[in-house]
Amino acid sequence: MIKVTVPATSANIGAGFDSLGLALGMHNTIYLKEAQGPDIASLDGVRVPTGEKNLIYQTVKDLYNRCGRSFPGLYIRQQNTIPMTRGLGSSSACIVGGLLGGNALLGQPFTTDELVDMAAHMEGHPDNSTPAILGGFVAAVLEDEHVFYVKKDLDSSLHFVAFIPDFALKTEEARAALPATVSHKDAVYNLSRAALMATSICTGKLDNIRVAAGDRLHQPYRLGLIPGGDGIFDAAYSEGALAVFVSGAGPTILALVDGGDTGFCQRVQARISQNEQTARFALTRLTPDNRGAYVQQLDDTFLPAAE
Ligand code: HSE
Repeated sequence: MIKVTVPATSANIGAGFDSLGLALGMHNTIYLKEAQGPDIASLDGVRVPTGEKNLIYQTVKDLYNRCGRSFPGLYIRQQNTIPMTRGLGSSSACIVGGLLGGNALLGQPFTTDELVDMAAHMEGHPDNSTPAILGGFVAAVLEDEHVFYVKKDLDSSLHFVAFIPDFALKTEEARAALPATVSHKDAVYNLSRAALMATSICTGKLDNIRVAAGDRLHQPYRLGLIPGGDGIFDAAYSEGALAVFVSGAGPTILALVDGGDTGFCQRVQARISQNEQTARFALTRLTPDNRGAYVQQLDDTFLPAAE
């Protein structure tokens, strides 16, 4: 039995649309072993597809096909702590879990970089799939089926507060809200800030990052699909967040906070509870994940249970 642990991710980090991402200390756990056909169940009551359309199942099957190995089927047990369709990389976690788990079942024929390429190709967004595999803060570009990336560990003094709403937003819908073209001025606004964000995170120059998180390519369009989102930005900045941005395609909003600011959540909660729309967001404080996804080999007789 293979156990794969995969972190949640937050893509874009404001200005770095489709290029920057980071891994968070919130994890899905997947147990896998070969079986006859699909034998799939959830460990925590979260509904998952139990047939061949299951994303983990599909991913492992695809990997077997690439190796020319016959695929008998798969036993999968999933614990989905990462909420689905909330902009925290839940589909990326399934693909990455399938790739790392399948690679382990096959005897590790693929290198980590090959898995990074495959994950980006399957998921479509290297800013989600790459930090899910590698952990940390990542800049990633997918070109000609290959991911060109840099990964940097995040300082453990940085904490993240995820404001997760009780409603979903599909990535397709959030992408459909984006304009087909943008002005040269807006393009420069973003590229200068994305460069500033990457270099500031890498060097620890955190006084830059509020400005570096500014964005004109996606957030202004997506916030219209996130009722209460503007109010979350205001509340988080009023209570001392270092930077606030829409996580991935949304609707979760992520605030970067100083790890020493232990009262942040309590103060923001008091503010957002007073408004019907912002009260729909639940707060979760998270640390960075610098390890990325990892595999453990267990005895085949092991019986998985929710952790
Ligand atoms: N960068 C992508 C987007 C991430 O914002 O649409 C999607 O998960």
